[in-house]
Amino acid sequence: MNIGIILAAGEGTRMKSRHPKVLHKISGKPLLSYVLDEAEKAGIRRNVVIVGHGKEAVMESITGENIIYEEQPVHQGAPYGTGYAVMQGMGHVGDEDNVVVLCGDTPLITASTLTELMKYHNSQNNKATVLTTCLEDPTGYGRIVRKSEGSLQAIVEHKDATEDQRKIGEINSGIYCFSGKELKLGLDGINNDNSQNEYYLTDVIGVLVEGGYKVGAFMIEDASQIHGINSRVQLAQADDIIRERINLGHMENGVTLINPKDTYIESTVRIGRDTIVYPGAVLEGDTVIGEDCTIRGATRIVDSIIGDEVSIESTLIENSKVGDGCKIGPYAHLRPDSELGRNVKIGNFVEIKKAILGDDSKASHLSYVGDAQVGSGVNIGCGVVFVNYDGERKFKSIIGDNAFIGSNSNLVAPVKVESWGYVAAGSTITDNVGEGELSIARARQVNKAGWVEKKGLKKRK
Ligand code: UD1
Ligand code: CA
Repeated sequence: MNIGIILAAGEGTRMKSRHPKVLHKISGKPLLSYVLDEAEKAGIRRNVVIVGHGKEAVMESITGENIIYEEQPVHQGAPYGTGYAVMQGMGHVGDEDNVVVLCGDTPLITASTLTELMKYHNSQNNKATVLTTCLEDPTGYGRIVRKSEGSLQAIVEHKDATEDQRKIGEINSGIYCFSGKELKLGLDGINNDNSQNEYYLTDVIGVLVEGGYKVGAFMIEDASQIHGINSRVQLAQADDIIRERINLGHMENGVTLINPKDTYIESTVRIGRDTIVYPGAVLEGDTVIGEDCTIRGATRIVDSIIGDEVSIESTLIENSKVGDGCKIGPYAHLRPDSELGRNVKIGNFVEIKKAILGDDSKASHLSYVGDAQVGSGVNIGCGVVFVNYDGERKFKSIIGDNAFIGSNSNLVAPVKVESWGYVAAGSTITDNVGEGELSIARARQVNKAGWVEKKGLKKRK
């Protein structure tokens, strides 16, 4: 069986954070979840996560059938190091298993690289295989030291390396494939006799080489996959890399991104063909966008379903559904549980909350539609307010098909306007309006002839 051991007990001091490092997010997803998702995709069905600092938060926020947590003691004076961390997971490893060791702070590794690493390990009959790459600036990483004939000799940590060894460009990714039996044997052979007083997992390689076991390195070209995160700067760099990967995927699937560098799309979002996304869009969570849509301006869409041929400009949409052909914005806000039928128009400065609007209905300017069920073909004039709250409770309004709500009206809920009901502009509606009725609920206009003259206003000016 393939078993993953994922190291995530370290403190992450350089993040300068109250939260565990592996819970920091890139493109909306925690670092540790990237590693676990890729491991699972590569066919690693059991993943043992070694937690320590901030373990409660990690164990609470990331769960799954194939995830087992093991705790590494992290109190003052407790033994430390990647080797010691791996030892905590060995109770789950059988002699015949392959163990892939991963780091919770190296989230850009891909499933296909892990698959190739395991394939290479097996085909070479290795007992340990290190994933390596070459870096222009290898500072800080463990170096891959090879024998004169080219085979792997040892991994030397930057801090423990000689001048000559520091010149080596090939580095240890911190990702390995081990055969279970030899990993146990190697861990028994390491100590903490080094500059950091740590049990280094990297020393297992030297121990196995000395014991005459077959050990190898699997080098990859794409160094971005082993980009580790120790600081906020590296977090931002990882975000760049992941965003580029996600955005490339959409473009390959037929989505136009006008300026991909300035478009934030989380990995969970799906977008249909021929949709055009202009710079500045933020698409998050379980959002699904249909085909032939246009998304412009500072638009943010969270956990929402958008149909085909929808046009959206500078708008916030949360947890809502938008039907085919709708036009939304600029500067609209669809709050949670809103649902628009087909060809609905929601215009400038309109707020919709927990409301259903039927096909072809319109609220083109400056309205608040909250807690409402609105039929199809309804016109909601400029400045209409659905008065849904009495300071304590919320009430619902129901508007029938083809109703017309004149500008600057208030609909004081609970209230009903039946189909083809007309509300005159400026009305405050507190009673139901029947089918086909016109309701005028405002003071009658009075014009007083000669009033200005009588008051002597003109003379005074
Ligand atoms: C490690 C490797 C180095 C490699 C680099 C790649 C060792 C000794 N060095 O160095 O060769 O180039 O990764 O990124 O292995 N952790 C624990 N418990 C511990 C110590 C660490 O769980 O007691 C976890 C950390 O949370 C982290 C991972 O192990 O996720 C790596 O530890 P870190 O201290 O970052 O190792 P590096 O110095 O980066
Ligand atoms: Ca690290």
